[in-house]
Amino acid sequence: MPKKIVATDIHPIFKGSLGKKEKELILKQKGLVIWFTGLSGSGKSTIAKALEHKFYENKFLTQILDGDNLRIGINKNLGFSEEDRLENIRRSAETAKTFLDCGIITICSFISPLNIYRDLAKEIIGEHNFFQVFIHAPFEVCEERDVKGLYQKARRGEIKNFTGLDAPFETPNNPNLVIHTHLSPLEKCVEDLYNELITRIYYP
Ligand code: ADX
Repeated sequence: MPKKIVATDIHPIFKGSLGKKEKELILKQKGLVIWFTGLSGSGKSTIAKALEHKFYENKFLTQILDGDNLRIGINKNLGFSEEDRLENIRRSAETAKTFLDCGIITICSFISPLNIYRDLAKEIIGEHNFFQVFIHAPFEVCEERDVKGLYQKARRGEIKNFTGLDAPFETPNNPNLVIHTHLSPLEKCVEDLYNELITRIYYP
C-alpha cells in the first residue's frame, strides 16, 4: 500500500466564481439533491430512471448518480466494509454537490444503509438542498424480486457483508418522504414523488 499523503497548503478559489443562483437562472429551475436510500432491490434505480424521464418531459435538467455505476468508476477501489461504504458515500455526496452547485436536480441512488452515512451526505450537501427519500419494500419482497440474483448469491455465501443479510440496514431516522414500492405501482410512486418535489425545484 502506498503511504497516505494528505495535502497541505490548499487554497480553494470561490471569489469571482459563478454560483448556484446564477446557473439556476439559466436553467430556470432550483437545484436539489434527491437522495434515495433503501435495500438492494427496493426499486431505487427503477424509480430514479422513471423520475428522470418525468423531469425531462417537464424540461428539468437532471443527473442520476447510482451506486452501481459509480462503483465501476470513481469508487472502483471500494468494497462493502463499513469504512469503504462511508468513503463511497462521501465521494458520491461530494460529486452530487458539484452537480447541485450547477443548479442540476441530482438524483442519488445509494443503499446508504446507516444513518451516519445519510447524515454525512446531508452535511456535505447542506440540509436546505437535501431531500431524503426512503425507498421501502420489506426485506422478503426485495429477496423475492432478486432482480440481480444477488440475494441468492449472498444466501449461498458467495457475497459477504450483504446489506440486510450479514450487514445492517437501519431504518432512516427522518426521511423527507417514504415510498412503499410493494404497495403502489411504479407510475404512482413517481407521481407522488414528483408532486412532492415540484415546489422545491420550481423557479419562480
Ligand atoms: S452502499 O451501501 O455503499 O451505499 P451502493 O449503493 O454504493 O452501496 O452499492 C450497492 C450495489 O452494489 C447493490 O445494488 C448491488 O448491486 C451491489 N452489491 C455488491 N455487493 C454488495 C453487498 N455486499 N451489499 C450490498 N450491495 C452489494
